[in-house]
Amino acid sequence: MGYRARVLTVDTLPIARPLSGARYSAAELSSDGDAVYLLDQRRLPGEEAYVVARTASDVAQAIRDMVVRGAPAIGVAAAYGVALARRAGELDAALDELASARPTAVNLRWAVERIGAVARAGSVEDTCHAARALHRDDVAACRAIGAIGADLLPARTTVLTHCNAGALATGGFGTALGVVRAAWASGKLSLVLADETRPYLQGARLTAWELREDGVPVELLTDGMAGHFFARGEIGAVVVGADRIAANGDVANKIGTYGLAVLARAHDVPFYVAAPWSTVDLATPSGREIVIEERASDEVTTIAGVRVAPQGVSARHPGFDVTPARLVTAIITERGAIARVDAAGLSALAR
Ligand code: MRU
Repeated sequence: MGYRARVLTVDTLPIARPLSGARYSAAELSSDGDAVYLLDQRRLPGEEAYVVARTASDVAQAIRDMVVRGAPAIGVAAAYGVALARRAGELDAALDELASARPTAVNLRWAVERIGAVARAGSVEDTCHAARALHRDDVAACRAIGAIGADLLPARTTVLTHCNAGALATGGFGTALGVVRAAWASGKLSLVLADETRPYLQGARLTAWELREDGVPVELLTDGMAGHFFARGEIGAVVVGADRIAANGDVANKIGTYGLAVLARAHDVPFYVAAPWSTVDLATPSGREIVIEERASDEVTTIAGVRVAPQGVSARHPGFDVTPARLVTAIITERGAIARVDAAGLSALAR
């Protein structure tokens, strides 16, 4: 059947209030625990509409289709998907389908395993409760990341960010955009430069939308422009999110992130990665072992459904790249900032 492309506004959702703490939310579980509402991020910024997922399989499909995206947000959505599976009494296949919906973001598997364990041992209510707690914890982690990261930024900074690591990509508030929001609130931020992030345009469509909603000054760059602004001394810091951080501190994030890290190092600009601890994967030794999602060629050869490359020409489309730990100034987590980005620095915060 699949999730229903039903247009619902946030005020009509059958929930007490969004757990995101914002006016909108990437994923919410209905008060009765029988449906998951996902803000359809493919329609933003033109339309703010929610789809309804009634089964774990619907949630998995919505993750595959990029209705909901961003590592922590797909973790939250999948946690709610497990709650639907528990209600339906069909855990095993559902957990596998959810965990394998996308390969790179470790938060997905982490959330499915965590809530899956509750579902196997407990009731439907226990599972809903645990999934909502995971959502709340992610928002709290983002707020802590924001405060810790804002402290690291110099005064009157222009921050460059890539993709969308905001409220839409998390339970709420955001990781990289959590740092931006906290820096803006404390008067430390002058401007955000947002890469448009081809081909899904998460920067142009989502980061720009979120920041505009909050009144944070933002200007868009096409993905090839960053070097120009680094060379002119216009970028004070880079802050990005992550999909998976390996045990040695290598960081997988949206394709294009590695190039920014190289530019930042060449221009002596700090390069920060903001991510909750659920993105840290100590079981993966280094970036070499991280599976990089390969997406369809036609997502690159077409723009908004219009072919822009000659017929017969195909495109490469890795969804993510790996930034080596040595290029990362610090990893900002809710447990603290890791300024020594290596296995020892990460394991010092592990528990
Ligand atoms: O393909 P996407 O849109 O899911 O990719 C998202 C990113 O790369 C984000 O930077 C990352 O998931 C961190 S979100 C807080």
